[in-house]
Amino acid sequence: MENKEKKDTTKKKKTIIERTINYKLLFLLIIIIFTHIPVIKYCKGEILKGNIKKLNVKNGEHSFFRQKRDINDVENNNVINNKIDDTFNQNFKGFRNYKTPIGPEEYSETRYVPTNEKLKVYREKVSEMFHYSYDNYIQHAYPEDELKPISCTGQNTWGNFSLTLIDALDTFAVMNDIEGFENALEKVKKINFDMDINISVFETTIRILGGLLSSHLIAKDLGNRITYHDELLVLAEDLGQRLLPAFDTPTGMPFGSVNLKHGVQPEETTVTCTATIGTCSIEFSWLSILTNNPIYEFTCRRAIHSLWSHRTNAGLIGAHIDVFTGFWTEAVSIFFFFFFL
Ligand SMILES: *[C@@H]1O[C@H](CO)[C@@H](O)[C@H](O)[C@H]1NC(C)=O
Ligand SMILES: *[C@@H]1O[C@H](CO)[C@@H](O)[C@H](O)[C@H]1NC(C)=O
Repeated sequence: MENKEKKDTTKKKKTIIERTINYKLLFLLIIIIFTHIPVIKYCKGEILKGNIKKLNVKNGEHSFFRQKRDINDVENNNVINNKIDDTFNQNFKGFRNYKTPIGPEEYSETRYVPTNEKLKVYREKVSEMFHYSYDNYIQHAYPEDELKPISCTGQNTWGNFSLTLIDALDTFAVMNDIEGFENALEKVKKINFDMDINISVFETTIRILGGLLSSHLIAKDLGNRITYHDELLVLAEDLGQRLLPAFDTPTGMPFGSVNLKHGVQPEETTVTCTATIGTCSIEFSWLSILTNNPIYEFTCRRAIHSLWSHRTNAGLIGAHIDVFTGFWTEAVSIFFFFFFL
């Protein structure tokens, strides 16, 4: 009897405790929801939009964000309605407040562009860093592919074709270093792809074929400012011919690797990474345009159409495919469409 009572009271106590805990939990939940409303609003962009609208009204001009501003006009960029807006500069020294002239108000944002003086300093720093890397590559690693920065020696990584040199060639032109471009060009002209090495179709396409073609177009643009007789295009075409055998498969999708001298090796795996198949479009199409030979563009297009025809019912493509059977060997779907660009 006594025992039963004891049991009952403990049961009562338990429910009371449970209830208070539940009330506490409920209270906590309500607090959490209320404190998170601004966060949710912010994520939905409502707060941001509201602020932008307020700003427009404040400035009394609806087209405030559409107002064109010349980013090079250092003096006038901070003048808003004849008042110098210096609040930003006080917090972030060296940068100026710049309202982007593009897009509708709701999507506009405030961008910060360095002053001309700062830009000049940055430009020089980038150029200095580029030349530091390039000079050391030439001194310690050339003609091998890459520089090993600790041992200061060269190594062949993606082939035996002075990869860093070709990768860097168009950077000279971008930095307006015509003399450097011409010097690098002389070295690239000596490259010969007739070698017994296995190379990655993907890496060779984007780095070597892409590098040669972009540098060729730049060299053409420079006209008679440099001595150039389409040597880069001849090299690119030779390389294109050596890459084509990789695409000779039942599905039209390429092998991952090919030997530059002997074509696809008998032991080569038939499994290819999706990126290899999709990546050829820009390089192969430009090679066709510049050589007036449709074979490259046709071959690449066939591979991409074949890949697309092997998508799943959900419209997805996987990571690895067998280019003989068309079976996905690695069905994880990643954002490989990036490489279709
Ligand atoms: C790499 O290229 C150099 C220069 O063209 C050549 O002498 C060397 O034999 C090549 N190495 C291989 C492994 O093909
Ligand atoms: C190229 O790859 C094949 C097959 O994997 C191999 O037998 C051959 O030795 C490789 N050639 C070179 C030069 O590494």
